[in-house]
Amino acid sequence: MKAARIHRYGGPSVIRIDEIDTPVPADGETLVTVAATSFNPTEIAVRRGVFDVDLPHTLGWDLAGEADGVPVIGFVDSGAAAQYATAPRDRLVPAPKNIPLRQAAAIPLAGLTAWQTVAHVRRGQKVLINGAGGGIGSFAVQLAKHWGAYVIATASPRSAEAVLGYGADEVIDYTTTVPGQPVDVMIHLVGSPPPWPVPAREQVISAAAPVRADVPSTHVVMSYDRDHLSALVALVEAGVITVDVTESYPLDAMAEVHRRGEAGEFRGKVTIVPH
Ligand SMILES: NC(=O)c1ccc[n+]([C@@H]2O[C@H](COP(=O)([O-])OP(=O)(O)OC[C@H]3O[C@@H](n4cnc5c(N)ncnc54)[C@H](OP(=O)(O)O)[C@@H]3O)[C@@H](O)[C@H]2O)c1
Repeated sequence: MKAARIHRYGGPSVIRIDEIDTPVPADGETLVTVAATSFNPTEIAVRRGVFDVDLPHTLGWDLAGEADGVPVIGFVDSGAAAQYATAPRDRLVPAPKNIPLRQAAAIPLAGLTAWQTVAHVRRGQKVLINGAGGGIGSFAVQLAKHWGAYVIATASPRSAEAVLGYGADEVIDYTTTVPGQPVDVMIHLVGSPPPWPVPAREQVISAAAPVRADVPSTHVVMSYDRDHLSALVALVEAGVITVDVTESYPLDAMAEVHRRGEAGEFRGKVTIVPH
């Protein structure tokens, strides 16, 4: 089978498409025929060697495919960027029935991170979501609206329409305008600190870069939760959450996906299809 792997750390060119043996599930695992994985920008850090991984390392965290004849989605520690992957059974849930697996691959990491970040927001609060045009942002805006918040979102012109479509009450173009209006909560989803004063009165929550050393904030690190993922699937099936996949690539283009992702050329979620 084909797998997108790195044998050493470095730029996008270290990604190789290797022909390797189909993995064999260990106890408690199952084999997934992969329909798609998704690009998550944190994997750039894996490729660069910011985190230590065993080499060679097969990329890919989000998984959508068929396991034991059942369409599933899930989250694995590595190996989803391949034609077949093994996954612990408890890392998989039934896929949404109303969208293709290739689209559902966008849900796990971004959806779970959004869920666990927005869970800190209370009904009726005014929330600034900074970085709403990204993969996590698309889920965060929809969840915050579903849970009863008033949402002000930052987005550049390329994402403004989509973010309004997710239900944001207001969109601020971060390329021209400082979000100065006071809010109860700020959710930060950008890989660099905001270059403007934080307008949150009660709480700052970051899933990305620390907001500022002098501003207390809660940092959320996604931890896999089967119940949260199943609840996300149910909201997709109920039509409450739309899964916005903006581009899709074959596995052979993984190095190009990393190059474009690193250059900031993507918005929303991008998927990779290995078959
Ligand atoms: N804590 C965790 O467990 C966890 C898990 C996954 C990811 N992360 C981190 O969370 C962050 C977001 O991840 P993601 O997957 O959503 O990223 P992403 O999809 O790559 O986000 C890209 C989006 O960021 C927006 N953006 C870029 N610069 C911005 C700025 N200065 N102000 C406002 N928006 C800006 C752009 O929006 P426009 O299109 O509007 O320009 C772009 O579409 C990353 O730093 C990632 O490493 C954390």
